[in-house]
Amino acid sequence: MAIKDILKMGDERLLRVAKPVEAFDTPELHALVQDLLETMKDAHGAGLAAPQIGVDLRVVIFGSGNINPRYPDAPIIPQTILINPILEPLCEEMKSAWEGCLSVPGLRGLVPRHVALRYRGFDLDGTEIDRSVDGFHARVVQHECDHLDGVLYPMRIEDMRQFGYTEVLFPQLAADGDDD
Ligand code: NI
Repeated sequence: MAIKDILKMGDERLLRVAKPVEAFDTPELHALVQDLLETMKDAHGAGLAAPQIGVDLRVVIFGSGNINPRYPDAPIIPQTILINPILEPLCEEMKSAWEGCLSVPGLRGLVPRHVALRYRGFDLDGTEIDRSVDGFHARVVQHECDHLDGVLYPMRIEDMRQFGYTEVLFPQLAADGDDD
């Protein structure tokens, strides 16, 4: 168990389509999830995907029981370990909002996402997860699951004028110690 280095954009390992997990509740899977949890907490992230620490598996974690300093106005999302996820948009409507990513430090971009979606997958021990969510929760799930298909949020920005350094776009956020 350890805090891992987070790969940054430009690293080819972030561009792979990750492989499905085939066995649940194994020591290896527990160790991976523990590493993800510790690394996300250390980086004050809202979510983290296994490819971001160089592991080529379809595992993401997101949420926290506390207010996230990077997204102080965001509603609380239950801490979730989601394995082999399947996403299904519940409406056509897309909405744009600012996103950041631990693999793209120091930057923010305006990204369109489905407003509501159903996601299914498995917990660490193989228990099925099936939730319908909207808003920030839906956005975080889409962002994290994109990592499993080698997609980083800058690839989804429609207007590249809406992409820039956090310290310039949101001086207060940067001053509050937001380091990515
Ligand atoms: Ni990310």
